[in-house]
Amino acid sequence: MTSLNASGAVADSLDLVIFGGAGDLSVRKLLPALYMAHLHGNLPVDTRIHPVGRQPFSREAFLGFVAEKVVPFIEPKAFDEKAWDSFLARLHYVSMDVSRPGDYAALAAAMPPGAARVYYLATAPNLFTAICANLAAANLIDEASRVVLEKPLGHDLASARAINDEVGQYFAESQIFRIDHYLGKETVQNLMVLRFGNTIFEPLWRSPYIKSVQITVAEAVGVGSRAGFYDGTGAMRDMVQNHLLQLLCIVAMEPPVSLDPDAVRDEKLKVLRSLRPMTLADVARDTVRGQYAAGASAGDAAVGYLQEANIPEGSTTETFVSLKAHINNWRWANVPIFLRTGKRMAERRSEIVIEFADLPYTIFPDAPRQPVNRLMIRLQPEEHVQLQMMAKEPGSGMRLRPVSLNLDLESAFTERRAEAYERLLIDVIRGRLTHFMRRDELEAAWTWVEPIINGWQTLNEKPKAYTAGTWGPAASSALMAREGSAWVEEA
Ligand code: BG6
Repeated sequence: MTSLNASGAVADSLDLVIFGGAGDLSVRKLLPALYMAHLHGNLPVDTRIHPVGRQPFSREAFLGFVAEKVVPFIEPKAFDEKAWDSFLARLHYVSMDVSRPGDYAALAAAMPPGAARVYYLATAPNLFTAICANLAAANLIDEASRVVLEKPLGHDLASARAINDEVGQYFAESQIFRIDHYLGKETVQNLMVLRFGNTIFEPLWRSPYIKSVQITVAEAVGVGSRAGFYDGTGAMRDMVQNHLLQLLCIVAMEPPVSLDPDAVRDEKLKVLRSLRPMTLADVARDTVRGQYAAGASAGDAAVGYLQEANIPEGSTTETFVSLKAHINNWRWANVPIFLRTGKRMAERRSEIVIEFADLPYTIFPDAPRQPVNRLMIRLQPEEHVQLQMMAKEPGSGMRLRPVSLNLDLESAFTERRAEAYERLLIDVIRGRLTHFMRRDELEAAWTWVEPIINGWQTLNEKPKAYTAGTWGPAASSALMAREGSAWVEEA
């Protein structure tokens, strides 16, 4: 089979197999991302894509399904009839039961010998082991093969370890791409450049010059049609264990020696391992669980979580988490780190706010009582960076008012911004592991998160209701207020 060349790129011939190929992720994200990669000439010339599923689609029926379901997720201005037709020519649906070893012959037959192989596991994680074992038994794995593991990777530390052990029997760590799509976002990658491609922030990027850090990933959407998955998962496992902790790693890590995957991942791992473990008392004091109640979203009435389709009566799954964390190292000693995420919040907004220290003393009697300097890094829906500075209000007297230095990245760059999945899929194809999670990172994240989830159980901590369309339960603001801070919620 094709081997890797020196730059890690796969040669011209590639078979990309998507297990769960007719599923939600494939339809909404993977196939649209692959179409975009195809449109922009980023797929190896001879690429075949094999969505795998149980549904007995004929080729025609599958192409019809794709036309109906996938096209709505492609930006209309990127849709090109000719490119679409040539993309469809790459698709070869394989109908099979992934748990049946005998069915892998059909997959093997669809993949000519000599091509590099990427296996994307977008199924429930309880199928991962069977898929890997069956691929191995069918002789479909070699040292050039790669496997992509979609989250959730486990339900707790033990199950994450079990998945890693099992997949590790068939693939070396350098062949395993654990995806966290937040690491593929342009803005998140830009955070590394903001920190390590500039000199002005680094000297101040530490205690005592930073007073607090807040990371918000707020969603306006509710649970949607994912009740089955979400109700057994909750916001802590769905968002905090992966996306928020990964953002925190990039904010808090020491400068890596290079962009080499292990250089970056070593530094992220150190952050995760330095997170102060929470005791039961910490969990009770420093975490807030919430669940949305009926309210409004984008001007329309929105039902509460318990009224959503297929949510079990009386469910106590959290749709909101906020918490205060600490990192036990020299750089971050005594700097509270606030994390917050939720569904059905006031708006969709992902933002990192670095609040710099208060003035030691002010000579301006009329200075407003508010944080002096803040760096606000908006990741989505728009991408911009604002540095809030104090300025003198025009007029007699010395009245101060905060104004912003604005870095508007969307107008600074006119280049196309690829979606996270497109960028990460290209990384997989080219063998670039930097923006994927290593096994020890994943396990360190679970090690920190698990006692919090267990603590909630021990404390019988029921989620606090918050009205859909708001910023979460009042207790979340109180958590901040105790530290003399407040969530940034203005536009
Ligand atoms: C996924 C979660 O990982 O991330 C979803 O499972 C969530 O519940 C989604 O909606 C948010 O991603 P994005 O890119 O829309 O911020």
